[in-house]
Amino acid sequence: MAHDKKIIVGNWKMNLDVHEASLYLYQLSKLVKVHRDVEVVLAPTVLTLQSLSLQVNLRQFKLAAQNFYWRDHGFFTGEVSATQLRGIVQFGLVGHSERRHIFNETDKEVRNKVAAAIRNHIRPILCIGETAWERANNETHDVLHDQLIGGLSNITSEELDQVIIAYEPVWAIGDGQNANPDDVTKVVGMIRRQIEHLYGAAAAESIQILYGGSVTPDSAAAYFAIPGIDGLLIGGSSLDARAFNEIIEKAHKSSAETKKE
Ligand code: PGA
Repeated sequence: MAHDKKIIVGNWKMNLDVHEASLYLYQLSKLVKVHRDVEVVLAPTVLTLQSLSLQVNLRQFKLAAQNFYWRDHGFFTGEVSATQLRGIVQFGLVGHSERRHIFNETDKEVRNKVAAAIRNHIRPILCIGETAWERANNETHDVLHDQLIGGLSNITSEELDQVIIAYEPVWAIGDGQNANPDDVTKVVGMIRRQIEHLYGAAAAESIQILYGGSVTPDSAAAYFAIPGIDGLLIGGSSLDARAFNEIIEKAHKSSAETKKE
């Protein structure tokens, strides 16, 4: 099941202006080594994507949009489409919990965005996760089930190859309270069973699943050790070049160890 490459995504959220983002990319480019077994993806604010796409060395980093609209063109003031981002980004976050909970993004929009990304040759990173309340009320399974079905229902098994799932418990995002690796192991198993139910055993084995939520260099190794975790989605720690680089190095180390086994 283990994939050759671990995926590390840095979600910069609504931080860094054009100048700062360019400087930060430069700093990262000096620090981060290219490893064949690690794919590093940066998700800066949409404003900076175009200029960073000219600056970035695609062997070292890929780019991701944090969000986009699902229609290709038209009367949608203020929106940016996957079609417009085509060729500028290689990945796109879809349904991040901040989009779902602050901007009330629905499963219908999420599924349209997953389809729009694929239509435009952008790999969607479909984010799913339960809130603290849902967790306390034993609803994790149902919530993830609904978000998976909701997000993937337009997607064929061939297209599923392009999709990456990010499990991000909402209660663990941004507040330093990261999820217990044993719990994440169970949830990842559950996600794979759901995918098996929808698309069959081969798809369940090959789909890439990331964990996200308050990951730091200290906690990263425990997640890489989880069978079935193919990488991490990093918020806060991705804005600290040293911390982000340490996580990348840990990803490389964990891939090298898996290969030795
Ligand atoms: P965090 O954010 O690492 O700061 O918790 C993760 C995310 O929102 O993707």
